[in-house]
Amino acid sequence: MTTQKVLCWKDIPGAPAVGVVLTRLDEIADGGACILSLGSDAQTFGIILLRSGDAVFAYVNRCAHFGLPLASEVKFLYPAPHKHITCSVHYARYRWSDGVCDKGDCEGEFLLKIPVVVVSGDVVVATD
Ligand code: FES
Repeated sequence: MTTQKVLCWKDIPGAPAVGVVLTRLDEIADGGACILSLGSDAQTFGIILLRSGDAVFAYVNRCAHFGLPLASEVKFLYPAPHKHITCSVHYARYRWSDGVCDKGDCEGEFLLKIPVVVVSGDVVVATD
């Protein structure tokens, strides 16, 4: 059973606009992860960034199972570099490169992917 009703990252309140710089590529180790929280306390938009070489995969920090954040700190994503991350609530496991749940209560569902590009070392929100 899942509660995921929103199908596009842009539908989440507080979603960043195209062109917003999220971080610097060199702030994330190769095979590493980063959790960002944009906005104010009243409305935050959580992002998980996963780096593989010069590529970055970005997902809304919102589990497909119950719509809760996967984790508040990287260590609680239990990342297996370049392979998967795991939700800290009920341990659904998501593939690194496409965000699909391959093990757990929401198997076959997916994290909401945010398009990003690296421009001059900056990780920037891109158009779909
Ligand atoms: S909220 Fe249940 S696995 Fe993430």
